[in-house]
Amino acid sequence: MKGNSIMKKAKKIVTMILVITMLAGLAACSSKTESKTENPETEKMSDTMKKIKKSGKIVVGTEASFPPLEFHKEIDGKDTITGFDIFVAEEIAKDLGVELEIKDMSFDGLLAALVAGNVDFVAAGMAATEERRQSVDFSIRYYDTLQTILARDDNKDEFPADSDMKGKLIGVQKGSTQSEIMSRMYPKAKTVEIAKNADIILQLQSGKIDGALLDDPIAQLYAIANPGLTATELTFKNDPEYDVGSSIAVSKEAPDVLESIDKTLQRIMDDGTYDKLLEKADSMLDADMIDMLVDE
Ligand code: ARG
Repeated sequence: MKGNSIMKKAKKIVTMILVITMLAGLAACSSKTESKTENPETEKMSDTMKKIKKSGKIVVGTEASFPPLEFHKEIDGKDTITGFDIFVAEEIAKDLGVELEIKDMSFDGLLAALVAGNVDFVAAGMAATEERRQSVDFSIRYYDTLQTILARDDNKDEFPADSDMKGKLIGVQKGSTQSEIMSRMYPKAKTVEIAKNADIILQLQSGKIDGALLDDPIAQLYAIANPGLTATELTFKNDPEYDVGSSIAVSKEAPDVLESIDKTLQRIMDDGTYDKLLEKADSMLDADMIDMLVDE
């Protein structure tokens, strides 16, 4: 699911911004006197962009237990990180004319790594929340999903669509928006924060928690991968005012990197690459991947 109307809106806004930026650029060109010392192109680049161009690579930070967006898969006998976000990141690198390097880390450490300059951008199915916007900038939204409660076959009926989940122990990934969504929309439930999705699954299987709140495609895939687990009827949209989908995070110091990323996102949405990459990511979700999800 990718929220077509939202993306159309986003496209319009981006087109407007691009036009405004182009006009501003023209105005700037006509008034500016040329610098004699440095190449004017390099001079106005952010430090991040300079580093990317100089090293010939851009580093993406992610947390790869989030299929179909990012996950580990054995390809030609080698453990590889793949998925839709990775394909998008490859397009970003391609448009910048550089190689892509992937760093896999814990989800709640991603933004700190970005601010510290250890990664150049974050692609991790991350929602552009107001709180996160305090420390980093976000691209246009490129992906959207429902929220779904994953439970066991033996207790799935305790999660009808209109449940208030009173007294239920619900696992969420530490540092994720699911944690906020739980306290805002289901204050009667008890939220348990767990760093790794694989551990959420283990705790659910062993009965330590009653359910887990996950982005819907992830809940569906974990249900397929783990017999005994079920995506319940309790599936919902985030409240509209918080409904932020997924965006790419960039340092506030690197507006030129953000601009390039937005252009790439816009390009792949316009030229059909987006749908092809989504299909490609889905086609990677085979039995191998499922094994890795189970015994990670
Ligand atoms: N969409 C949620 C958020 O922004 C969860 C993302 C988790 N992503 C991951 N790669 N584990 O917080």
